[in-house]
Amino acid sequence: MDVKITKIDHGPYVVEGVFTMVDADGNAYEAKESIALCRCGQSIRAPYCDASHNRTRYRENSRAIPEE
Ligand code: FES
Repeated sequence: MDVKITKIDHGPYVVEGVFTMVDADGNAYEAKESIALCRCGQSIRAPYCDASHNRTRYRENSRAIPEE
């Protein structure tokens, strides 16, 4: 496994592994082995999750649909 992305129910995407994340200008963020990326749009530490999803009661828990 190179990179694993886990969608947390009602919370962030957790990205684990060896990867590079860049902004819209192509500038790299600090390299880390695991990060939580905000999905709710309320984090003041964007693009990282700061747990604001709990305060705003963000709800989203869809599941992947298996391919046939
Ligand atoms: S998902 Fe956690 S602050 Fe947005």
